[in-house]
Amino acid sequence: MYSSMKRALRPLYSILLLIMVATTLTVRVILHYGSIQLKYDAPLFKSPEKPVFNATLLKYASIDIGESQLKQDIEELLEGNFRRRGRQRSFLSSKKYNIDVRMKPARGISVQLRSPEFYRLWLTFRRYLSDWSRNRRFQLDALSELVNGVKVPLDKYNGNKVLGKKYKSCAVVGNSGILLQSGYGELIDSHEAVIRLNNARTGKIFEQNVGSKTSISFVNSNVLHLCARRKGCFCHPYGTNVPIIMYMCQPVHFFDYLVCNSSHKPPLVITDPRFDVLCARIVKYYSLKRFVEKAGKDVVEWGAAHEGANFHYSSGMQAIMLALGVCEKVSVFGFGKSALAKHHYHTSQKAELSLHDYDAEYDFYHDLVKKPQMIPFITDKFQFPPVVMYH
Ligand SMILES: *[C@@H]1O[C@H](CO)[C@@H](O)[C@H](O)[C@H]1NC(C)=O
Ligand SMILES: *[C@@H]1O[C@H](CO)[C@@H](O)[C@H](O)[C@H]1NC(C)=O
Repeated sequence: MYSSMKRALRPLYSILLLIMVATTLTVRVILHYGSIQLKYDAPLFKSPEKPVFNATLLKYASIDIGESQLKQDIEELLEGNFRRRGRQRSFLSSKKYNIDVRMKPARGISVQLRSPEFYRLWLTFRRYLSDWSRNRRFQLDALSELVNGVKVPLDKYNGNKVLGKKYKSCAVVGNSGILLQSGYGELIDSHEAVIRLNNARTGKIFEQNVGSKTSISFVNSNVLHLCARRKGCFCHPYGTNVPIIMYMCQPVHFFDYLVCNSSHKPPLVITDPRFDVLCARIVKYYSLKRFVEKAGKDVVEWGAAHEGANFHYSSGMQAIMLALGVCEKVSVFGFGKSALAKHHYHTSQKAELSLHDYDAEYDFYHDLVKKPQMIPFITDKFQFPPVVMYH
Protein backbone atom coordinates (compact mmCIF):
# COMPACT_ATOMS: atom_id res chain seq x y z
CA MET A 1 0.00 0.00 0.00
CA TYR A 2 2.64 2.40 1.13
CA SER A 3 5.04 1.49 -1.64
CA SER A 4 2.35 1.73 -4.31
CA MET A 5 1.46 5.16 -3.08
CA LYS A 6 5.10 6.07 -3.23
CA ARG A 7 5.24 4.83 -6.77
CA ALA A 8 2.15 6.80 -7.64
CA LEU A 9 3.63 9.94 -6.14
CA ARG A 10 6.91 9.52 -7.92
CA PRO A 11 5.89 11.52 -11.03
CA LEU A 12 4.49 14.20 -8.73
CA TYR A 13 7.81 14.35 -6.90
CA SER A 14 9.63 14.64 -10.15
CA ILE A 15 7.41 17.48 -11.27
CA LEU A 16 7.85 19.25 -7.92
CA LEU A 17 11.58 18.76 -8.14
CA LEU A 18 11.59 20.10 -11.66
CA ILE A 19 9.58 23.16 -10.64
CA MET A 20 11.95 23.77 -7.72
CA VAL A 21 15.01 23.53 -9.90
CA ALA A 22 13.44 25.74 -12.50
CA THR A 23 12.43 28.32 -9.90
CA THR A 24 15.88 28.39 -8.37
CA LEU A 25 17.41 28.86 -11.76
CA THR A 26 15.03 31.65 -12.61
CA VAL A 27 15.74 33.36 -9.32
CA ARG A 28 19.45 32.96 -9.97
CA VAL A 29 19.08 34.47 -13.40
CA ILE A 30 17.04 37.37 -12.04
CA LEU A 31 19.55 37.91 -9.25
CA HIS A 32 22.32 37.83 -11.76
CA TYR A 33 20.58 40.35 -13.96
CA GLY A 34 19.73 42.38 -10.92
CA SER A 35 23.32 42.63 -9.88
CA ILE A 36 24.40 43.64 -13.35
CA GLN A 37 21.76 46.33 -13.44
CA LEU A 38 22.75 47.51 -9.98
CA LYS A 39 26.30 47.88 -11.16
CA TYR A 40 25.22 49.93 -14.14
CA ASP A 41 23.19 52.19 -11.89
CA ALA A 42 26.15 52.96 -9.68
CA PRO A 43 27.61 56.41 -10.36
CA LEU A 44 31.08 55.01 -10.95
CA PHE A 45 29.96 53.24 -14.10
CA LYS A 46 27.60 55.74 -15.56
CA SER A 47 28.18 59.45 -15.55
CA PRO A 48 24.91 61.33 -15.21
CA GLU A 49 23.51 63.22 -18.16
CA LYS A 50 24.71 66.77 -18.60
CA PRO A 51 21.79 69.13 -18.26
CA VAL A 52 20.89 71.54 -21.00
CA PHE A 53 22.00 74.91 -19.67
CA ASN A 54 19.86 77.94 -20.36
CA ALA A 55 21.64 79.83 -23.13
CA THR A 56 20.49 83.24 -21.92
CA LEU A 57 21.98 82.67 -18.47
CA LEU A 58 25.21 81.35 -19.96
CA LYS A 59 25.46 84.39 -22.20
CA TYR A 60 24.91 86.90 -19.39
CA ALA A 61 27.26 85.01 -17.09
CA SER A 62 29.96 85.36 -19.73
CA ILE A 63 29.73 89.14 -19.94
CA ASP A 64 32.15 90.93 -17.66
CA ILE A 65 30.54 94.29 -16.90
CA GLY A 66 33.74 95.66 -15.40
CA GLU A 67 35.86 94.71 -18.39
CA SER A 68 36.23 98.10 -20.06
CA GLN A 69 37.05 99.89 -16.81
CA LEU A 70 39.67 97.28 -16.02
CA LYS A 71 41.19 97.58 -19.49
CA GLN A 72 41.46 101.31 -19.05
CA ASP A 73 43.04 100.94 -15.61
CA ILE A 74 45.59 98.53 -16.97
CA GLU A 75 46.40 100.81 -19.89
CA GLU A 76 47.06 103.72 -17.54
CA LEU A 77 49.24 101.61 -15.29
CA LEU A 78 51.25 100.37 -18.24
CA GLU A 79 51.82 103.98 -19.18
CA GLY A 80 53.05 104.75 -15.70
CA ASN A 81 50.08 106.82 -14.64
CA PHE A 82 49.40 106.24 -10.94
CA ARG A 83 47.70 109.51 -10.19
CA ARG A 84 44.20 108.20 -9.64
CA ARG A 85 45.21 105.63 -7.07
CA GLY A 86 45.02 107.03 -3.60
CA ARG A 87 46.32 104.28 -1.40
CA GLN A 88 48.80 102.91 -3.88
CA ARG A 89 50.15 106.39 -4.47
CA SER A 90 51.09 106.84 -0.84
CA PHE A 91 52.76 103.43 -0.86
CA LEU A 92 54.73 104.23 -3.99
CA SER A 93 55.82 107.61 -2.71
CA SER A 94 56.94 106.22 0.62
CA LYS A 95 60.61 106.53 1.52
CA LYS A 96 61.28 103.16 -0.01
CA TYR A 97 60.66 104.24 -3.60
CA ASN A 98 61.20 107.95 -3.39
CA ILE A 99 59.14 109.00 -6.35
CA ASP A 100 57.04 112.05 -6.81
CA VAL A 101 53.73 110.84 -8.11
CA ARG A 102 52.20 114.29 -8.10
CA MET A 103 53.84 115.16 -11.36
CA LYS A 104 51.88 114.78 -14.53
CA PRO A 105 52.96 111.82 -16.61
CA ALA A 106 54.40 112.63 -19.99
CA ARG A 107 53.74 110.50 -23.03
CA GLY A 108 55.38 107.08 -22.96
CA ILE A 109 57.45 106.62 -19.86
CA SER A 110 56.28 108.86 -17.12
CA VAL A 111 58.44 111.43 -15.39
CA GLN A 112 57.22 109.90 -12.14
CA LEU A 113 59.67 107.11 -12.48
CA ARG A 114 62.69 108.96 -11.31
CA SER A 115 64.55 106.61 -9.04
CA PRO A 116 66.47 103.89 -10.91
CA GLU A 117 65.34 101.34 -8.37
CA PHE A 118 61.74 102.18 -8.99
CA TYR A 119 62.26 102.22 -12.72
CA ARG A 120 63.49 98.63 -12.62
CA LEU A 121 60.55 97.63 -10.47
CA TRP A 122 58.20 99.31 -12.87
CA LEU A 123 59.61 97.46 -15.88
CA THR A 124 59.01 94.11 -14.18
CA PHE A 125 55.60 95.32 -13.12
CA ARG A 126 54.73 96.13 -16.73
CA ARG A 127 55.83 92.72 -17.90
CA TYR A 128 53.77 90.89 -15.29
CA LEU A 129 50.74 93.06 -15.75
CA SER A 130 50.66 92.78 -19.52
CA ASP A 131 51.04 88.99 -19.37
CA TRP A 132 48.26 88.80 -16.84
CA SER A 133 46.04 91.06 -18.87
CA ARG A 134 46.62 89.08 -22.05
CA ASN A 135 45.72 85.81 -20.31
CA ARG A 136 42.58 87.15 -18.75
CA ARG A 137 40.11 85.18 -20.84
CA PHE A 138 37.92 82.16 -20.54
CA GLN A 139 39.46 78.74 -20.87
CA LEU A 140 37.37 75.62 -20.49
CA ASP A 141 39.98 73.44 -18.80
CA ALA A 142 41.33 76.03 -16.36
CA LEU A 143 40.56 73.66 -13.47
CA SER A 144 42.72 70.91 -14.92
CA GLU A 145 45.60 73.36 -15.32
CA LEU A 146 45.79 73.98 -11.56
CA VAL A 147 48.00 70.98 -10.96
CA ASN A 148 50.71 72.52 -13.15
CA GLY A 149 50.17 76.08 -12.06
CA VAL A 150 49.92 75.50 -8.32
CA LYS A 151 50.75 71.98 -7.20
CA VAL A 152 54.00 71.62 -9.14
CA PRO A 153 55.61 74.82 -7.71
CA LEU A 154 54.61 73.70 -4.21
CA ASP A 155 56.04 70.22 -4.80
CA LYS A 156 59.31 71.73 -5.99
CA TYR A 157 59.49 73.94 -2.93
CA ASN A 158 58.76 70.99 -0.63
CA GLY A 159 61.40 68.88 -2.39
CA ASN A 160 58.90 66.22 -3.46
CA LYS A 161 60.32 63.68 -5.90
CA VAL A 162 57.04 63.20 -7.71
CA LEU A 163 55.73 66.45 -9.14
CA GLY A 164 52.07 67.26 -9.64
CA LYS A 165 50.44 64.45 -7.71
CA LYS A 166 47.16 65.65 -6.23
CA TYR A 167 46.74 65.90 -2.47
CA LYS A 168 44.94 62.83 -1.10
CA SER A 169 42.63 65.01 0.94
CA CYS A 170 42.20 68.74 1.52
CA ALA A 171 40.40 70.81 4.10
CA VAL A 172 39.32 74.27 2.99
CA VAL A 173 38.76 76.30 6.14
CA GLY A 174 36.42 79.25 5.70
CA ASN A 175 36.14 82.01 8.25
CA SER A 176 32.49 81.80 9.21
CA GLY A 177 31.53 82.20 12.84
CA ILE A 178 29.83 78.79 12.66
CA LEU A 179 33.29 77.30 13.31
CA LEU A 180 33.27 78.50 16.90
CA GLN A 181 32.33 75.62 19.18
CA SER A 182 32.43 73.22 16.23
CA GLY A 183 35.24 71.16 17.71
CA TYR A 184 36.51 70.43 14.15
CA GLY A 185 40.15 71.29 14.86
CA GLU A 186 41.50 67.77 14.91
CA LEU A 187 39.44 66.66 11.92
CA ILE A 188 40.72 69.64 9.91
CA ASP A 189 44.34 68.92 10.77
CA SER A 190 43.96 65.27 9.73
CA HIS A 191 43.76 66.25 6.03
CA GLU A 192 46.91 66.07 3.93
CA ALA A 193 46.56 69.73 3.01
CA VAL A 194 44.83 72.49 4.94
CA ILE A 195 43.94 75.67 3.05
CA ARG A 196 43.19 78.81 5.07
CA LEU A 197 41.73 82.10 3.95
CA ASN A 198 42.80 85.74 4.08
CA ASN A 199 45.08 85.31 7.07
CA ALA A 200 42.31 84.38 9.47
CA ARG A 201 43.81 83.84 12.86
CA THR A 202 44.63 80.49 14.32
CA GLY A 203 46.36 79.99 17.65
CA LYS A 204 45.57 78.54 21.01
CA ILE A 205 42.16 80.07 21.58
CA PHE A 206 40.86 78.86 18.20
CA GLU A 207 42.81 75.64 17.81
CA GLN A 208 40.13 73.27 19.04
CA ASN A 209 37.67 74.59 16.45
CA VAL A 210 39.82 75.52 13.46
CA GLY A 211 42.93 73.39 13.85
CA SER A 212 46.52 74.52 13.74
CA LYS A 213 47.99 73.13 10.52
CA THR A 214 48.26 75.28 7.39
CA SER A 215 49.59 74.02 4.07
CA ILE A 216 48.40 76.85 1.83
CA SER A 217 47.49 80.39 2.73
CA PHE A 218 44.96 81.63 0.22
CA VAL A 219 44.51 85.40 0.08
CA ASN A 220 43.20 88.12 -2.15
CA SER A 221 45.62 90.85 -3.12
CA ASN A 222 44.00 93.42 -0.82
CA VAL A 223 45.37 91.39 2.06
CA LEU A 224 48.88 91.35 0.61
CA HIS A 225 48.62 95.05 -0.15
CA LEU A 226 48.19 95.76 3.55
CA CYS A 227 51.08 93.45 4.44
CA ALA A 228 53.32 95.13 1.88
CA ARG A 229 53.51 98.24 4.01
CA ARG A 230 54.89 96.35 6.95
CA LYS A 231 58.55 95.77 7.57
CA GLY A 232 59.78 92.75 5.59
CA CYS A 233 56.32 92.47 4.05
CA PHE A 234 55.21 90.66 7.12
CA CYS A 235 52.21 88.60 6.18
CA HIS A 236 52.78 85.21 7.70
CA PRO A 237 50.35 84.41 10.47
CA TYR A 238 50.93 80.72 9.74
CA GLY A 239 54.71 80.89 9.70
CA THR A 240 57.21 82.02 7.09
CA ASN A 241 57.31 78.62 5.37
CA VAL A 242 53.72 78.50 4.25
CA PRO A 243 53.17 79.12 0.52
CA ILE A 244 50.72 81.84 -0.44
CA ILE A 245 48.27 81.58 -3.33
CA MET A 246 46.72 84.89 -4.22
CA TYR A 247 44.28 86.28 -6.71
CA MET A 248 44.60 89.79 -8.05
CA CYS A 249 41.74 92.09 -7.07
CA GLN A 250 43.34 95.14 -8.65
CA PRO A 251 46.06 95.19 -11.27
CA VAL A 252 48.02 97.81 -9.34
CA HIS A 253 48.62 95.16 -6.68
CA PHE A 254 51.31 93.67 -8.88
CA PHE A 255 53.57 96.18 -7.14
CA ASP A 256 52.79 94.59 -3.81
CA TYR A 257 53.42 91.20 -5.34
CA LEU A 258 56.84 92.20 -6.64
CA VAL A 259 57.84 93.85 -3.39
CA CYS A 260 56.72 90.91 -1.27
CA ASN A 261 57.83 88.13 -3.58
CA SER A 262 61.45 89.09 -3.14
CA SER A 263 61.30 88.59 0.63
CA HIS A 264 59.03 85.55 0.60
CA LYS A 265 60.85 82.24 0.78
CA PRO A 266 58.07 79.80 -0.15
CA PRO A 267 56.16 80.28 -3.42
CA LEU A 268 53.88 83.26 -3.72
CA VAL A 269 51.67 82.16 -6.59
CA ILE A 270 49.26 84.43 -8.40
CA THR A 271 46.22 82.57 -9.65
CA ASP A 272 46.02 82.16 -13.39
CA PRO A 273 43.68 84.86 -14.73
CA ARG A 274 41.95 82.17 -16.81
CA PHE A 275 41.08 80.43 -13.56
CA ASP A 276 39.81 83.75 -12.16
CA VAL A 277 37.56 84.21 -15.18
CA LEU A 278 36.16 80.69 -14.76
CA CYS A 279 35.34 81.34 -11.09
CA ALA A 280 33.72 84.66 -11.98
CA ARG A 281 31.52 83.06 -14.62
CA ILE A 282 30.35 80.24 -12.41
CA VAL A 283 29.36 82.50 -9.52
CA LYS A 284 27.69 84.94 -11.84
CA TYR A 285 25.72 82.13 -13.46
CA TYR A 286 24.40 81.02 -10.06
CA SER A 287 23.65 84.60 -9.11
CA LEU A 288 21.71 85.18 -12.34
CA LYS A 289 19.86 81.89 -11.93
CA ARG A 290 18.80 82.82 -8.43
CA PHE A 291 17.80 86.30 -9.56
CA VAL A 292 15.61 84.97 -12.35
CA GLU A 293 14.22 81.78 -10.84
CA LYS A 294 13.91 82.59 -7.14
CA ALA A 295 13.35 86.34 -7.19
CA GLY A 296 11.41 86.27 -10.48
CA LYS A 297 13.26 89.26 -11.86
CA ASP A 298 14.40 90.08 -15.36
CA VAL A 299 17.93 89.03 -16.20
CA VAL A 300 18.80 92.50 -17.55
CA GLU A 301 18.19 94.05 -14.11
CA TRP A 302 20.82 91.88 -12.48
CA GLY A 303 23.70 94.34 -12.94
CA ALA A 304 21.97 97.16 -11.09
CA ALA A 305 21.05 94.85 -8.21
CA HIS A 306 24.56 93.44 -7.74
CA GLU A 307 26.92 96.35 -8.16
CA GLY A 308 27.49 95.12 -11.71
CA ALA A 309 31.09 96.06 -12.37
CA ASN A 310 32.23 95.37 -8.81
CA PHE A 311 30.52 92.03 -8.45
CA HIS A 312 33.03 89.43 -7.40
CA TYR A 313 33.25 85.90 -6.16
CA SER A 314 34.42 85.51 -2.57
CA SER A 315 37.92 84.33 -1.67
CA GLY A 316 36.33 81.27 -0.11
CA MET A 317 34.69 80.29 -3.37
CA GLN A 318 37.95 80.45 -5.25
CA ALA A 319 39.77 78.51 -2.54
CA ILE A 320 37.23 75.70 -2.95
CA MET A 321 37.70 75.86 -6.73
CA LEU A 322 41.43 75.59 -6.19
CA ALA A 323 40.94 72.52 -4.02
CA LEU A 324 38.78 70.90 -6.73
CA GLY A 325 41.75 71.10 -9.04
CA VAL A 326 44.53 69.90 -6.75
CA CYS A 327 42.85 67.46 -4.33
CA GLU A 328 41.38 63.97 -4.62
CA LYS A 329 38.89 64.66 -1.83
CA VAL A 330 37.70 67.99 -0.48
CA SER A 331 36.27 68.77 2.94
CA VAL A 332 34.88 72.23 3.50
CA PHE A 333 34.66 73.81 6.95
CA GLY A 334 33.46 77.19 8.17
CA PHE A 335 31.33 78.11 5.17
CA GLY A 336 27.76 79.19 5.78
CA LYS A 337 25.98 81.30 8.25
CA SER A 338 23.53 81.02 11.07
CA ALA A 339 21.49 83.64 12.83
CA LEU A 340 23.52 83.08 15.97
CA ALA A 341 27.00 82.99 14.46
CA LYS A 342 29.29 85.88 13.66
CA HIS A 343 30.16 86.58 10.02
CA HIS A 344 33.82 85.83 10.73
CA TYR A 345 34.98 83.65 13.57
CA HIS A 346 37.95 85.90 14.23
CA THR A 347 36.59 89.44 13.73
CA SER A 348 33.55 91.38 14.77
CA GLN A 349 32.52 92.24 11.22
CA LYS A 350 28.75 91.91 11.22
CA ALA A 351 27.59 92.24 7.68
CA GLU A 352 28.49 90.48 4.50
CA LEU A 353 29.99 92.50 1.68
CA SER A 354 27.37 93.40 -0.88
CA LEU A 355 29.64 92.81 -3.87
CA HIS A 356 29.43 89.10 -3.11
CA ASP A 357 26.37 86.93 -3.58
CA TYR A 358 26.86 84.34 -0.87
CA ASP A 359 23.46 82.76 -1.50
CA ALA A 360 24.46 82.09 -5.09
CA GLU A 361 27.75 80.62 -3.87
CA TYR A 362 25.85 78.31 -1.50
CA ASP A 363 23.75 77.14 -4.47
CA PHE A 364 27.01 76.34 -6.22
CA TYR A 365 28.34 74.38 -3.22
CA HIS A 366 25.07 72.50 -3.06
CA ASP A 367 25.49 71.33 -6.65
CA LEU A 368 29.13 70.57 -5.99
CA VAL A 369 28.20 68.10 -3.28
CA LYS A 370 25.03 66.62 -4.81
CA LYS A 371 25.09 67.10 -8.60
CA PRO A 372 28.32 68.51 -9.95
CA GLN A 373 27.15 67.86 -13.50
CA MET A 374 24.83 70.88 -13.02
CA ILE A 375 27.81 73.24 -12.83
CA PRO A 376 28.27 75.19 -16.06
CA PHE A 377 31.49 76.08 -17.90
CA ILE A 378 33.26 72.84 -16.98
CA THR A 379 34.67 70.49 -19.57
CA ASP A 380 33.36 66.90 -19.62
CA LYS A 381 36.92 65.71 -19.19
CA PHE A 382 37.16 67.16 -15.71
CA GLN A 383 36.28 64.76 -12.88
CA PHE A 384 35.02 66.53 -9.77
CA PRO A 385 36.45 65.09 -6.56
CA PRO A 386 33.95 64.18 -3.84
CA VAL A 387 33.15 67.20 -1.68
CA VAL A 388 31.79 67.20 1.87
CA MET A 389 30.56 70.35 3.59
CA TYR A 390 30.80 70.33 7.37
CA HIS A 391 28.32 72.55 9.16
C1 LIG B 1 16.27 81.03 -20.08
O1 LIG B 1 16.27 82.08 -19.17
C2 LIG B 1 15.65 83.27 -19.66
C3 LIG B 1 15.90 84.35 -18.66
O2 LIG B 1 15.33 84.04 -17.45
C4 LIG B 1 14.20 83.00 -19.92
O3 LIG B 1 13.56 84.18 -20.40
C5 LIG B 1 14.08 81.89 -20.94
O4 LIG B 1 12.75 81.56 -21.10
C6 LIG B 1 14.86 80.67 -20.48
N1 LIG B 1 14.90 79.73 -21.58
C7 LIG B 1 14.58 78.46 -21.43
C8 LIG B 1 14.67 77.63 -22.66
O5 LIG B 1 14.24 78.00 -20.37
C1 LIG C 1 59.53 85.50 -7.08
O1 LIG C 1 60.30 84.68 -6.24
C2 LIG C 1 60.72 83.46 -6.79
C3 LIG C 1 61.43 82.67 -5.72
O2 LIG C 1 62.27 83.46 -4.97
C4 LIG C 1 61.60 83.71 -8.00
O3 LIG C 1 61.97 82.51 -8.59
C5 LIG C 1 60.82 84.57 -8.99
O4 LIG C 1 61.63 84.89 -10.09
C6 LIG C 1 60.32 85.81 -8.32
N1 LIG C 1 59.53 86.58 -9.25
C7 LIG C 1 59.74 87.86 -9.43
C8 LIG C 1 58.86 88.53 -10.39
O5 LIG C 1 60.60 88.48 -8.84
